[in-house]
Amino acid sequence: MTTIIPYYRSTNKDFTLVEGDCVSVLNAFDFKFDMIFADPPYFLSNGGISVSNGKVVCVDKGAWDKAPSSEYIDEFNHKWLSACKDKLKDNGTIWISGTHHNIFSVAEQLSELGFKILNVVTWNKTDPPDNVSHRVFKHSAEYIIWAKKSKKAQHRYNYELMRQLNDGKQMTDVWRMPAVSKWEKSCGKHPTQKPLSLLARIIMASTKEGDWVLDPFNGSGTTGVAASLLGRKYLGIDIEKSFLELAAKRREELENKEICQAYKEMVLVDFNGAIQAEQPHHVLVGRIGSDEQWEWFEKSKNYILPISKVLSMPKLLGAEYVLAFLGKDSKKAQLCRISGLKPQVRTREQVAEMASHTSDYKPTRDNTYWLIHLEKPLDETKGKVFNKSLLLSLQEQRGAYWIKKYEEVIKAFE
Ligand SMILES: C[S@@+](CC[C@H](N)C(=O)[O-])C[C@H]1O[C@@H](n2cnc3c(N)ncnc32)[C@H](O)[C@@H]1O
Repeated sequence: MTTIIPYYRSTNKDFTLVEGDCVSVLNAFDFKFDMIFADPPYFLSNGGISVSNGKVVCVDKGAWDKAPSSEYIDEFNHKWLSACKDKLKDNGTIWISGTHHNIFSVAEQLSELGFKILNVVTWNKTDPPDNVSHRVFKHSAEYIIWAKKSKKAQHRYNYELMRQLNDGKQMTDVWRMPAVSKWEKSCGKHPTQKPLSLLARIIMASTKEGDWVLDPFNGSGTTGVAASLLGRKYLGIDIEKSFLELAAKRREELENKEICQAYKEMVLVDFNGAIQAEQPHHVLVGRIGSDEQWEWFEKSKNYILPISKVLSMPKLLGAEYVLAFLGKDSKKAQLCRISGLKPQVRTREQVAEMASHTSDYKPTRDNTYWLIHLEKPLDETKGKVFNKSLLLSLQEQRGAYWIKKYEEVIKAFE
């Protein structure tokens, strides 16, 4: 066994990153994990095109995502899956994400290696990019195979937790979730970053607190960040140093307790129905406007969910008020003033009219909205600053973007 020198280790030692080819690294130590999540190269960097932010862009991700032949893909998948099997506890499970480019090869290699497939989860993306060729259906899904080490193994599935988080109903194998949000890129970008909420669901479904999670294709470290947020231990491997640097930054960010708490709540919000309105006078908080319009806001380390996302939580529809921040357009928003601003009650029609130019708008079932016109970066305002810390101080433990004590919200604007 060779001694492995980690690229990074968190101060509490619950998060370690190692640089190198995952097969070589895995073969160099002796340790078994409770769960493995792998987002391997999909091998779709073949010069194809897609649409991003309204622009046609090349889909190529990097040299690591190119394959000369289908035999190469099979061989690659066989090698790393075999190394992973060796490092998985007998009762452990493995999750592998992919698209049609690689997922059939992964399934075949899993069977060859004696794994037993438990589910093929469909991640149905809420906001897929348009298909520019107009010759096939718009691609709106990725697939995640969940498998156990052998037919006989007793694996962990936190059935009851999943049921509770799915509003008391059995969780299905189709997960409707958005792609990565801007706030998840606070430390930099990775070309194929996965959303934290997706990894949080996977980790919560198949592990318990204190378990060890491995990701042999660490990338930006999403699996590790989700593991840390949920109290699991993590080892991530990546062949590219720049991605490990990004992952380490993401882990370091969690040392800030406020950020860590905020991310935990953001991640939980993605469980539709997980957060329930317990009293009738709840106030929901969200933003109207596209991610681009709000980029300036997130750059100043503030954050807020799109109102559409807040409103898509079915249980929350019973809330009486919606407090929506309307950031006109990014340039104007930076110039105007917020001081002296008062919340205004608007009817559904008025809100619809005002929000008609945005793609984020969806009406609630009730007719009353609280609309706040946010017209200046909040951290620049003097006096009544409605920034992240105020949001956090107002919100209750389980309510990410809704605030129970509506009077306090109002007070903040007086
Ligand atoms: C699809 S990305 C993973 C993205 C990650 N799930 C995230 O959320 O950021 C695959 C990653 O695997 C890395 N990679 C490719 N081949 C590798 C290998 N043989 N060993 C280790 N890492 C590898 C790439 O550098 C890339 O960062």
